[in-house]
Amino acid sequence: MKILNLYACLGGNRYKWGEEHEITAVELDPEAARLYQERFLNDTVIVADAHQYLLDHYKEFDFIWSSPPCPSHSRARFARRNTTTPIYPDLKLYEEVLFLENYFEGKYCVENVIPYYEPLIPAQKRGRHLYWTNFNLPNDLNERKIVIGGNKTTAKTSEVNHEFKALCKFHDYDFTKYKGEQRVDKMARNLVDYEAGKTILDTAMGIIKKSNVNQTSIFDYEEM
Ligand SMILES: C[S@@+](CC[C@H](N)C(=O)[O-])C[C@H]1O[C@@H](n2cnc3c(N)ncnc32)[C@H](O)[C@@H]1O
Repeated sequence: MKILNLYACLGGNRYKWGEEHEITAVELDPEAARLYQERFLNDTVIVADAHQYLLDHYKEFDFIWSSPPCPSHSRARFARRNTTTPIYPDLKLYEEVLFLENYFEGKYCVENVIPYYEPLIPAQKRGRHLYWTNFNLPNDLNERKIVIGGNKTTAKTSEVNHEFKALCKFHDYDFTKYKGEQRVDKMARNLVDYEAGKTILDTAMGIIKKSNVNQTSIFDYEEM
């Protein structure tokens, strides 16, 4: 399958997708893109705005995954609204869902956190995330459990370090390699669990294969 992996970061969702697909990853942060490329040598990695890339290239793919940035939707940031600068929810998330739902002929998955408001478009909730897809997700995405969060301003340094190490283990990635401009602890917390990423791609592939078989049997019947 030809897969587009938008807002690719360090490839949490992509980690267990294997090497049989042709994958294009789009990431704006050059350091994250460099490390993604180091991690997935066979993927094509593009440093660009994922939102624009989707518009320009969606027709080239069979499956599209998108993970737009979550801070403007997150309950955690909203809980700190009296001490942080107010921001509008970034509606590009919904632009992409509407666009993919109506223009794209393949299967898609847009992923984000559970927002502090009622989602503008209904989604499937699994674990800590919402997923907008054009296929049904299994109730169980085989997600692994990790307890993260807590109040970072009152947490002791040892607790923060402990969480960071736990996230490195959980994602099977040494986040200390990252030398870019984003806060690496936040980045580590935002990666999708690779088991959930795999289950979602496997589900989409199963549906695509089934519809290809059905198409073939219709043609067989017509030729008789
Ligand atoms: C929540 S993370 C994605 C996590 C990813 N799905 C994973 O599981 O590893 C969002 C990523 O989007 C990137 N990003 C933010 N704005 C972007 C844009 N306009 N175009 C491409 N990437 C962008 C950030 O640098 C960050 O790496």
